[in-house]
Amino acid sequence: METNGLLFAIGRTGGRARRVAGGVSTSDVLVSAHISGNADVFPEILALHVPAGSTVADVTWGKGVFWQKVPRSRYNLKATDIQMGVDCRSLPYDNHSIDCVVLDPPYMEGLFRKSEAHMAGGGTHSAFRANYSNGKATAEGGPKWHAAVTDLYFKAGAEAKRVLRPEGTLIVKCQDEVSANRQWLTHVEIINEYERLGFYCKDLFVIVRTNRPVVARLKKQEHARKNHSYFLVFVNTTKRKYRTAQRSRHPRP
Ligand SMILES: C[S@@+](CC[C@H](N)C(=O)[O-])C[C@H]1O[C@@H](n2cnc3c(N)ncnc32)[C@H](O)[C@@H]1O
Repeated sequence: METNGLLFAIGRTGGRARRVAGGVSTSDVLVSAHISGNADVFPEILALHVPAGSTVADVTWGKGVFWQKVPRSRYNLKATDIQMGVDCRSLPYDNHSIDCVVLDPPYMEGLFRKSEAHMAGGGTHSAFRANYSNGKATAEGGPKWHAAVTDLYFKAGAEAKRVLRPEGTLIVKCQDEVSANRQWLTHVEIINEYERLGFYCKDLFVIVRTNRPVVARLKKQEHARKNHSYFLVFVNTTKRKYRTAQRSRHPRP
């Protein structure tokens, strides 16, 4: 009998049923840490967590780098970005209509400024700005600095919750950052907030840069220079066991 990828042999010992787990010994498994690029790892994450034929909304499409090595016929892909006029905080999809949402908004506070002149990635770094943000200044009155980063992740997470079907998948790319000389573990902030929203963090991948980062104008190093980022995989859960686990992790005041 094959159940969930495991083979069970049902036998009898002294009149009692005996269950023997089958399966194969292999090292051919997807691992959690990769010294690699997004375009190589993302297809493997999809293969593990998102069944072929699923409707997938990539809501921060950018240049579509994530999808470079994913066969187009595999998913019903809906690609949007603020640069196409679609804000990931207000998606044009019905409630519970999407199987998987992919979210990769700008991850560093330097890309959220009230003036384009003050944004990170000016001058010779303009390609960085073009790849990682929409290149536009942030509206007056919103949160500032690192809080502007998490505000977008949190609001986009709530919108993903609305459009995802129950048990649907949310794949989030993020990176921690040092801002105002303080360490911000963005991936932890996102996991905590999304679990409050009703997601279960099912998997976590660490992506390590293949090249060494160069620091311009270093005076005194205070924190390790980040050369890794994350893919987080969440399940839009309605299951009681996950909600109970969340409550014990985040008791209400
Ligand atoms: C890090 S890039 C995404 C790269 C993309 N994953 C790829 O594979 O090419 C961040 C993207 O978020 C988009 N963005 C920024 N704010 C947004 C918003 N409020 N709604 C939707 N997209 C947004 C930017 O235009 C930019 O294309």
